Order: sequence, then C-alpha cells, then structure tokens
Amino acid sequence: MSVTTRAATDLAYQRCINPACGATLPVDQAHFGCPECGDGLDVTYDWDRLPVPSRLSDFEAKWSNRVNPLDFSGVWRFRELLPFAPEARIVTIGEGQTLLQAADKVGSYVGMRPGHLLLQYEGMNPSGSFKDNGMAAAFTHARMVNARRVACASTGNTSAALSVYCSATNFGFKAIIFVGSGKIAYGKLAQALDHGALTIQIAGDFDDAMQRVRQVAERLNIYLMNSVNPFRLEGQKTIMFRVLEALRWEPPDWIVVPGGNLGNSSAFGKAFIELKHLGLLDRIPRLAVINASGARTLDQLVTHQGLSWRDGLHDPELTRAFYEAMDSGGGKASTIASAIEINRPVNLTKCLRALHACDGVVRQVSDQEIMDAKARVGAGGLGCEPASAAAVAGAKRLREEGIIAPSDRVVCILTGHQLKDPTATVAYHGTDQDQFEKVLGSRGVRRAGFANRPVVIANDLDDIIRTINLYSSDAAEAPGA
Ligand code: F0G
Repeated sequence: MSVTTRAATDLAYQRCINPACGATLPVDQAHFGCPECGDGLDVTYDWDRLPVPSRLSDFEAKWSNRVNPLDFSGVWRFRELLPFAPEARIVTIGEGQTLLQAADKVGSYVGMRPGHLLLQYEGMNPSGSFKDNGMAAAFTHARMVNARRVACASTGNTSAALSVYCSATNFGFKAIIFVGSGKIAYGKLAQALDHGALTIQIAGDFDDAMQRVRQVAERLNIYLMNSVNPFRLEGQKTIMFRVLEALRWEPPDWIVVPGGNLGNSSAFGKAFIELKHLGLLDRIPRLAVINASGARTLDQLVTHQGLSWRDGLHDPELTRAFYEAMDSGGGKASTIASAIEINRPVNLTKCLRALHACDGVVRQVSDQEIMDAKARVGAGGLGCEPASAAAVAGAKRLREEGIIAPSDRVVCILTGHQLKDPTATVAYHGTDQDQFEKVLGSRGVRRAGFANRPVVIANDLDDIIRTINLYSSDAAEAPGA
C-alpha cells in the first residue's frame, strides 16, 4: 500500500508515538507499525472538531435504546470516544455486556475492606475474554480498508476472538491464526477449531509466532489483528469506560490488570489520558500491571532497571540489552498463565506511557500465587482463567507491601473466562497427583491450599448420604476456607 500523510482536515488519523518521528497517516490505511521509524502507531483525534459529550453521564441516554446494536454494544455505545469509523462500517457482535462485581470474599483474601475490591468480569464477552472489545474496533477498521484475510499470533484468546468475529459476521472475513504448539489452553484451541479458523500450530512459543505472523502478513498483505494494530486498543479503551459507568463515573483508586503483550494496559492509559484531556475526568486511577514471574520483562525493566516513558525518550538501549541477555541465556517465557506467557511484549513503549500517565506500578507474581488467587476468585467471584487471577494476586501483593490501602477502591480486571483453561483448574482441585505434578508441580506450584477436592465414593446410597451429611453439616469447613 502506498503511504500518504494525513490531510489537515482529517478528524481521526494515525500518528507515530515516537516524538522524534511523529509521522501521521490517514485513518483508512492499515499499518502495524510506523512506516517511517517502525515504532507504534496511535489512533489520534482532532477532538476540538468532534462532538464529544460534555459529561460522561450523557452516555446513560444510550441505555434506553438497546434495540440499536450500536447502543447495545459495550464498545460502540461509547463511539464518540473512539470516532474513527463511519457508522455504516461498524462491526459488532454484541460485545461488552460485562459487569463489575463487588467481591467481598475475594476482597478479604486480598486484604481489602468490604466493598472495596471489585472484579471487572470480561469473561462475559461472546468469545469469553476481553479481546472482543478490541476485535469489534479492529474488524471495523478491517472493513474500512476492505480487508478479507485477517491473522494473528496468539496465546489463545486473541485467536478465539478473531475466529468468532469471522464466523459470526457476514463480511467475508477469513481467519488465519498462528499458535505455539502445545502453548495454548484447550478451551481456546477448541474455539478456533470450532469456528473454522485456519489454525497454524508452529513449533515455538508466542514470541516466535508473533514474529512469524508479522512476516507472513507483510508478504501476503494480510490484515493483522494483534495489538500492534492501533485500532484494537481503541476498542479496549471501553473496558475503562464501562468500569467508570458501573461506578457511576467516579474513578476507582486502582486498576489492576495482568500484563502480557501490554495491549490492555496501553489502552487503559490512553483512555484516561484522553478523558482527562477532554475534561471528562478530573482524577486518573493508578494502574498496576502484573506479570507472571515466568514472563516478567516489564517488571524487570520498569521496577528493577528503572525504564520509564520520559516523554517518549525512554532508553531503547536498556531494552535492547535486556533482550540480548535474555536471548543469549536461552530465556523462554514459562508460566501456567499461558495467556501472558510472553517475553517480548509488542506494546512495551505504549505501556510505559500508560504507567507514566497513571502513576503506575509493575509487579510479578509466582504461579503458586496465581493458582491460589484463581481458586479464591472461583470460590468468591465469577471465576477466571489463570492469567486473570494474576491481577488479584498482584493486588494482594501490593496490599501486603502497603502500596494499596485497605480503604482504597480497587478494580481487578478478570480478563478471561474460567472455562478457557480447565486443565489448570482440574489439576489444582483434583486428586490426581500425577496430573498435579505434570501441570502445576513442573512450574513450581507446591500446594493446592484452596483446593475443593472431588469426593470419590462407591455408588451406594448410605455412603452417599453419610458423605453429604458430613460435608454439609454446619461444623464442616467450607472448601478452601
Ligand atoms: N489475560 C488474558 C486472559 C489474555 O488472553 C491476555 C493476552 C492477557 C491477559 C494479557 O493482555 O496482552 O493486553 O497485556 N492474550 C493475548 C492472546 C496475548 O494472544 O490471546 P495484554
């Protein structure tokens, strides 16, 4: 595709995030990195010439018009805050009907006062993860540029979402997904297969698949749906709009989110930067991004090596040296939270910007902490997959360090549905020691302290009655209590 700069009259355009470059491009071109310098692109708006509501509560008018699919969508009912597409091109499959759940049992595990821990449950999206927010926007853009073949590399949820958007719409999209062989959870692989995606399993992990899909997309002119696509992040901004909406527009003190490819954290930062700029929010929540210990690039660089945004002038040498050392040591990401098993996050720079804007912190949590937190979420919330539980484990860590106060209002983003990864869940709760060792022990998980063990007994009425009475008497302890 020939590259042109944007016209001065464009209300929305793409802009390189590198201030030394600042290249601008029209909104109706597809780029997955700046054609001038290779850095990331933002979707940028000329807000002064766009009709933006004067108060966030103005969006409530959309609630009464749910027969319009654009007002029903949890992404597009905020379309004035991501105004890059003509309405006629918008793609929606009813994403974003998510909810913010007050979870006191989980809150007490984290160390919060009642009412102060909230879980934003993104598992209720059509494909069961937050990715649908981004896909609604990216597929809209794909329609704007008349793309047909769409591809991604994935740890599973991006590929599941991409596959659903291809199968559930009638715009002729063809799904091509790249996954690391053996590297994605069964629930997610099942989705890609069931929805008819061309599923390419390569020998290697997510980082390898990501590199390969970029090459293939360029060679074959295929539209890329990973979060290097700036339109994905526009859709993911709406997760924050819905959190604010659920809190009746009062910002929480903290947003805690797992970090993998760092698309979400980058999108959240952009959402808050824009809301502040537009005068729609006067206080920005703090952001905590949580890595798994086995995939901790962000934590190493930010918390331990002092990497920061510095108005886009962050030190690229620091990052390069980090990756060189990682590669020469044969470092590969490894965590039970397969969704965030990523060592080379493509949105690192945008995430640095988000951390700067939101006075953010980064932490890493072990697979033991992740699995324990996941069991607590299951017992006291709507349930989630391991990567999502990293947010809760991270909140607990920050609470123990005194960085989060018990009276703060904390929102953890539960990014993916519990049923995405049944293998991890059953290995934790089950009684099969070999399975525990194979799935969890091999990753340093030693105990299942919050396990709810299945009870195996003979098919005998008296035995069954005795067991039920034993387990359900008032004296019996609740599982994992
Ligand atoms: N949680 C879940 C359930 C995910 O699937 C992912 C990413 C993340 C958290 C991390 O989000 O990349 O925005 O920092 N999954 C991608 C995928 C990489 O391919 O499905 P992020």
